[in-house]
Amino acid sequence: MKILGIETSCDETSAGIVEDGHKLLANIVRTQIDIHKEYGGVVPEIAARSHIEVILPVVNQSLKTAKLDWKEIDGIAVTNGPGLLGSLMIGTLTARMLALIHRKPIYPVHHVLGHIYANWLLEEQPQFPVLALIVSGGHTHLFYLESHLKVKLIGRTTDDAVGEAYDKVAKLIGLPYPGGPAIDKAYHLGNPDFLDLPTPKGSGKYDFSFSGLKTAVLRRSQELIGEDFRFPSWQISKRLTEEQVNNIAASFQKKAVEILVDTTKKAFDEFQPKSVIIGGGVACNDYLREELQKALPIKLNYAPIDLCTDNGAMIAALGCFMHEYSKPVDPRDIKTEPSLKIQYQA
Ligand code: KG4
Ligand code: ZN
Repeated sequence: MKILGIETSCDETSAGIVEDGHKLLANIVRTQIDIHKEYGGVVPEIAARSHIEVILPVVNQSLKTAKLDWKEIDGIAVTNGPGLLGSLMIGTLTARMLALIHRKPIYPVHHVLGHIYANWLLEEQPQFPVLALIVSGGHTHLFYLESHLKVKLIGRTTDDAVGEAYDKVAKLIGLPYPGGPAIDKAYHLGNPDFLDLPTPKGSGKYDFSFSGLKTAVLRRSQELIGEDFRFPSWQISKRLTEEQVNNIAASFQKKAVEILVDTTKKAFDEFQPKSVIIGGGVACNDYLREELQKALPIKLNYAPIDLCTDNGAMIAALGCFMHEYSKPVDPRDIKTEPSLKIQYQA
């Protein structure tokens, strides 16, 4: 069975095709990073307009790459939330239209659950029960999956997502958007023990908190340049030396990764899963992968970078299992849901 997946929740326009939930036939991604870079973050209006321009060529390219005709596609999966309203609308309306024209069943996919399924595209597939840490610009979620149908959200951030903290800290110290890769690069040049940062805790046992960490970096940076809390954050980067920037970035990354690893390890000890997987943009981070692997007694699974960041293939992979286990939705009933929730079962 072959499913086409469409993803447009933020600043990547993507279409992927997956066979039977694990065979990757195509994954076309057009990123808008260069467009948003000059604004220091994603501009929703520009993102939506950019999706419109490329969505159909991206879908056509995925079919061409997979050497498939519409007749050979068994269904369409599309991210319907969470994400930016305008961006999500382009993907869902395109998918609805294609489903009606080509008479295909359609499945709405939760973006964060999609990130989990990038790991089903690896040669070695996860074994249930699975513990999944999904870390991206908008989410920091810990899931326990007993099967494809029994997915429990056991932990989440109570404030900022870890990727959001990376992006905000990068902006504060004058590093480019997206902050993750820039901070990771600076980490290797700096001293991770330069700042003594706090370990903020989320409210539940496996919850995370990153807002306090971000604020602590702001306060320490103000102190470093000899100013107090009244000094405007947007002027700080102008007063920092390159060495200080690298040291702040390194200290932030060390603490952020420590928080992710400690909480995931605690969940591993309680749930004793057969597989542990990571996904989402922050899962591209080598230091996180290494530290988490060191803390675990089993092999950590993660996808290559182009499947960790937003992509249509992960949506198609989950779409394959939805095609197998659930009923399609009438295309006209698929709604965009910017704040689409997953039930939290701590
Ligand atoms: O999953 P994703 O592509 O989009 C969302 O769903 O948010 O994740 C984007 C996030 C950004 O916050 C970016 O800074 C972060 O992933 N990121 C990284 C790295 N590469 C991307 N964070 C840490 N280290 C990286 N190497
Ligand atoms: Zn994402």
